[in-house]
Amino acid sequence: MSHFRPVALNHASRLVNHGPTVLVSAAHAGRRNIMAAAWSMPVEFTPPRIAVVLDKSTWTRELIAASGSFGIIVPGPALMDFTYAVGSESGRDMDKFAHYGVEACAGPELGMPIIERGCSAWLECRWLPEPRSEEAYDTFFGEVVAAAADARIFDNGHWNFTADNAELHTLHHLGAGKFVTAGNQIQARIPNGK
Ligand SMILES: Cc1cc2nc3c(=O)[nH]c(=O)nc-3n(C[C@H](O)[C@H](O)[C@H](O)COP(=O)(O)O)c2cc1C
Repeated sequence: MSHFRPVALNHASRLVNHGPTVLVSAAHAGRRNIMAAAWSMPVEFTPPRIAVVLDKSTWTRELIAASGSFGIIVPGPALMDFTYAVGSESGRDMDKFAHYGVEACAGPELGMPIIERGCSAWLECRWLPEPRSEEAYDTFFGEVVAAAADARIFDNGHWNFTADNAELHTLHHLGAGKFVTAGNQIQARIPNGK
């Protein structure tokens, strides 16, 4: 049984606000692909928009330009090796999903490849072309049109990292295949605040 539930679009930016390493997926003309991206961030609440840096060498970038859409998937520790692998080789000559035995399905709005098993969230984005940003800074923008998260770790618009859902904690890349998982959630209060 899937624990994924739709996330209200005005909360979608929270899914990547804390800087997880994500997977960027795309599909066009019967081919699909996925790559790792450490550099993504929200840039607008409403409408929800996000930015991701996609090097000119990536095949994912070409698929996005061809299809006008992309997916963002937030993987957990079970997909760490997969994340590293799809960030280390191109999908031009292989189907990375089939090669690594990872099941993807088509997102509900744009048909982008999404993964739920071993992941905590996904978003489907409509590409917002910005030729200057793409050429000069490799930065792609997208408007989130659908999002969902595993309710065991993201519910009612908020993450909740606990010892009980450690298998869903997000991955954060330190370099050379070394990651830390998010955890040790702590709560701030404004000193002398009401
Ligand atoms: C953890 C990790 C994070 C990465 N982050 C980015 C990123 O933010 N932007 C980028 O262009 N490439 C990034 N890469 C490299 C791409 O994932 C890599 O070039 C990939 O092979 C491209 O695949 P493709 O040609 O099939 O699209 C990252 C790689 C790893 C392992």
